[in-house]
Amino acid sequence: MNKKDVIIACDFASAEDTYRFLDKFKDEPRKPFVKIGMELFYAAGPDIVRELKRRGHQIFLDLKLHDIPNTVKKSMAVLSRLDVDMCNLHAAGTIEMMKAALEGLTREDGTRPLLIAVTQLTSTSEERMHDDLLIPGKIGDCVVHYAKNAQKAGLDGVVCSPLEAGMVKEACGREFMAVTPGIRFADGAVGDQVRVTTPEKAREIGSDFIVVGRPITAAEDPVAAYKRCLKEFLEE
Ligand code: C5P
Repeated sequence: MNKKDVIIACDFASAEDTYRFLDKFKDEPRKPFVKIGMELFYAAGPDIVRELKRRGHQIFLDLKLHDIPNTVKKSMAVLSRLDVDMCNLHAAGTIEMMKAALEGLTREDGTRPLLIAVTQLTSTSEERMHDDLLIPGKIGDCVVHYAKNAQKAGLDGVVCSPLEAGMVKEACGREFMAVTPGIRFADGAVGDQVRVTTPEKAREIGSDFIVVGRPITAAEDPVAAYKRCLKEFLEE
């Protein structure tokens, strides 16, 4: 796995739509790293993971688990058998839940997919965090606190806004991964995301992986948009 990469969020409603989209990349030398989220996984099931793996894609399975520790542990054991490269949960589920997840994810031979924790969703503003979630203070402080919890539990990193990647690295060290959605081109639409920045800025702040959905999937030329992301993020 590359230490830095662009992950395309395949937020499609069906396997067919996903294959139609990914077929556009079939002549590209680099098979995109893809993210399968809830919409696609609930629609297409584990078979979509197996098929994209067979086609040579690395997979981030973004199911954001958040439940009692025992349920999360057992669910992670099931996901681990799917041989994904990265999966995640909500840090809000507590350190105990994150430790249980790690146990469930670890295979008998000691290997496991990377496990990262969602801190605060990039669609959540500080105001919503205060008023809806009743969490006071700065959103950055909450993100750093959740990141430290994830590190205590033994996880590999967090999902956060690219704007917070620098703080996370400062608090948890350079090796602790920052996977960052909320990426938009300087000349693109923001949509429902709130805490966003460009691929170039995400690189400067310290993201390890950027997760990009609509700026690529809804682009007129998705392959060109993907290449633009790679160029801006990796300076390729
Ligand atoms: O289309 P867009 O680039 O906004 O897609 C971002 C993707 O990243 C979506 O699949 C969304 O579910 C996911 N995500 C996010 N914020 C988080 C965690 C995941 O936007 N904190």
